[in-house]
Amino acid sequence: MKTRFIDPFTPDLPVDDPAKFAGRNTAIESVVDSLYQLVNGNPKHVIITGDRGIGKSSVLLQAKSFTQGNFELLEILKIDPGVKSYSFITAWHDCAPDQTPTTLASGILEQLQNEAVSFIKGFKIELNLAGFIKIAEKDTSQATLVEIVTLFCEELKKFSKKASEANKDGIVLFFDELDSVKQNSGVATFFKLSSEKLARDGVKNVAFFAAGITGAVQALEKEHGSIYRTLADIPLARLAVEEVAQILKTGFEKVGCKYDEVVINEIHALCAGYPEPVHLLGSQILKSDKDDYLTIDDFKLAEKDVVETIRKNKLGSMLKAAGAGKYQAIMRAMASHAGSDVPLAYIAEQTGYEQSSLSSNIGTLVKRGIITLVTRGHYTFTDPLLKVYITRFGVIEPNIGDAEDEEDEDAQKVV
Ligand SMILES: Nc1ncnc2c1ncn2[C@@H]1O[C@H](COP(=O)(O)OP(=O)(O)O)[C@@H](O)[C@H]1O
Ligand SMILES: [Mg+2]
Repeated sequence: MKTRFIDPFTPDLPVDDPAKFAGRNTAIESVVDSLYQLVNGNPKHVIITGDRGIGKSSVLLQAKSFTQGNFELLEILKIDPGVKSYSFITAWHDCAPDQTPTTLASGILEQLQNEAVSFIKGFKIELNLAGFIKIAEKDTSQATLVEIVTLFCEELKKFSKKASEANKDGIVLFFDELDSVKQNSGVATFFKLSSEKLARDGVKNVAFFAAGITGAVQALEKEHGSIYRTLADIPLARLAVEEVAQILKTGFEKVGCKYDEVVINEIHALCAGYPEPVHLLGSQILKSDKDDYLTIDDFKLAEKDVVETIRKNKLGSMLKAAGAGKYQAIMRAMASHAGSDVPLAYIAEQTGYEQSSLSSNIGTLVKRGIITLVTRGHYTFTDPLLKVYITRFGVIEPNIGDAEDEEDEDAQKVV
């Protein structure tokens, strides 16, 4: 009988243990540099972007760890922080779909207040939450946005002063899942105006660290063409095979499991560089295995369990969310391609549509977070397991004739 073990994989949680964090040298280097600039009075606000499950929250969490002087990951990656240690005050806010700049601002300030109380001895600050409530009651317009920014920056200024008095390095405000905020909520303008106001008011020890899904952040960019000027973009790419191997090997070794190299290669090929399914399959293959030796058969069993049971509903919903008719034809075509990166020309050939008549559908699928652009004219599923799902269960049968109608409907829906 296999002895019970602690699952070394965390498909549902961002990585906090630096020893389990793979790759990302460039992104971490940028994060570290932003902190170094900030501590030297030159705040650099950043936004970490990438597909769902690519590792944005994990990078943000590591950044938070650096702000507390935990440099273990930097030692592993051989990145010089430029300082001996850090002691920032931080606050973390997970954005939600119904949020506006007002709720975002008051939410993070409340977090900051709680944090500051535990960080600074005898800390006391009167938060003007009533002010936010008052603004929230008015309807949204440019004028109220300016009011929110003014109030937000006034409050931040108080914290900034207290932080310097307490010899703290500064304040870092984390906003995860910025993409979930509605596009027309004014949030992009809010960040722009706030960062400009802080600079004008000489508040130089406060920085924003955000994260969001690429497509949605690009949509925010449309709202106010300067989100990337306000928040420097740190894009996260898919992981390389060595990085995937590192995640798997670290996990397998932790529980004393031996493995055939082919298992690593198969999981990498299936996951197309996304860490989330790597964790999911890693976790499942350890459960499928009976003899502490992972083979191709264990992999096949794990793949089956993940696609046919554990993730079945999620993948089914995702396929449905792709849309009907022509969208399903595109899904089927993409799933039939041998590799994970599918050329548009291949989709055209398989579906029988001209490339030009596919482009708006493809754009919609990208916006819906179902597929993503890899390189020019090449697309991949944002959840690589969807490919396996379609191969096994097929697509939702395209109703010939529905296709064009659905497309028109979408053109209006997705603005
Ligand atoms: N650098 C990494 N090394 C190892 N595992 C990672 C890494 N980045 C992300 N993961 C794993 O991938 C999954 C998704 O990561 P997460 O940070 O939540 O992604 P996102 O916020 O982009 O959706 C989690 O299971 C996490 O443990
Ligand atoms: Mg996340």
